[in-house]
Amino acid sequence: MGIEVVVEGLTKSFGKQSIWRDVSLTLPAGEVSVMLGPSGTGKTVFLKSLIGLLKPEKGRVLINGVDMVNSPEKDIYETRKLFGLMFQDGALFGSMSLFDNIAFPLREHTRKKESEIRRIVMERIEVVGLLGAEGKLPGEISGGMRKRAGLARALVLDPQIILCDEPDSGLDPVRTAYISQLLIDLNAQLDATMLIVTHNLDIAATVPDNMGMLFLRRLVTFGPREVLLTSDEPVVAQFLGGRREGPIGMSEEKDAATLAAEAGALVPAAPRVIVPQLEPSPGLPPRQAVTRRRQRVMGMIDSLPPAARSAIRDTYAKNARAATLTMPPAGSGA
Ligand SMILES: Nc1ncnc2c1ncn2[C@@H]1O[C@H](COP(=O)(O)OP(=O)(O)OP(=O)(O)O)[C@@H](O)[C@H]1O
Ligand SMILES: [Mg+2]
Repeated sequence: MGIEVVVEGLTKSFGKQSIWRDVSLTLPAGEVSVMLGPSGTGKTVFLKSLIGLLKPEKGRVLINGVDMVNSPEKDIYETRKLFGLMFQDGALFGSMSLFDNIAFPLREHTRKKESEIRRIVMERIEVVGLLGAEGKLPGEISGGMRKRAGLARALVLDPQIILCDEPDSGLDPVRTAYISQLLIDLNAQLDATMLIVTHNLDIAATVPDNMGMLFLRRLVTFGPREVLLTSDEPVVAQFLGGRREGPIGMSEEKDAATLAAEAGALVPAAPRVIVPQLEPSPGLPPRQAVTRRRQRVMGMIDSLPPAARSAIRDTYAKNARAATLTMPPAGSGA
């Protein structure tokens, strides 16, 4: 069962370069969250800070009472075993077969027998659709297969918190759709808390329960998906619309003069439609997070912006109607 991750006032810089300041958010237990943000805003640095691989100079990351920033290194090391991290570049060892790559965390962190390791690794290889490729070297397979191998490796220790750094980068639209479904299916099977970093608008629109965005060294927003999807913050609207007009420039933020010049020529964005979230594949259990999330979100609904409020009420009303339609008629004996 997933574990809540509480981030409080996290601040990180490298030398004089400030990455982000005062980031606070909670990844709710067992829910799926997405972090958006233009290139270079520190999304990968954020993931690495959550598992204690990078040290922010201020703030806390609390997991089961352990602070991944300030606790003794041995507590951080133990807590890190709760995580599965899928790196942006796959981070596979080039000289090892996929099998050995995926088995690596088990050999490193557990004392399981080789037969047991084989069973677990083959199970994960099947989940990510790589059966038959286990003997290949990373250099002999496609980028998409390497991504999935990285995901399989992230899954071998039965993680309760899964972090995925751009699971879609380098994938074609069809493979991206499969990865989206795979992430939701994993959530249904494991009830793990998940954070996905992505630029992909289809993943952002269909996978998460919650969404946030990093920009200009701060967390612009984090909360139920409907908040970001209906947000009229210029940076959010520009990102979700994939437009050039707005505060995000090619290399960094634009200056005020450029922005003012654009404002006159701004074409209104197409109205944003909230598409339904993906459901687990047929035959899988329902996601346990759904009921918890509904209670949580309904408990905070009065504090949300009006557009988000009505989008949330809409979604849950539709779900309720769908549930009534699929219920067996009274007296059918079912
Ligand atoms: N170990 C490091 N030492 C110094 N600077 C670093 C280090 N790691 C990252 N940075 C800097 O931190 C900034 C944020 O990097 P990060 O990789 O987190 O961006 P990102 O949001 O993941 O970008 P992308 O979407 O392109 O992957 C960059 O300017 C990068 O150069
Ligand atoms: Mg990155």
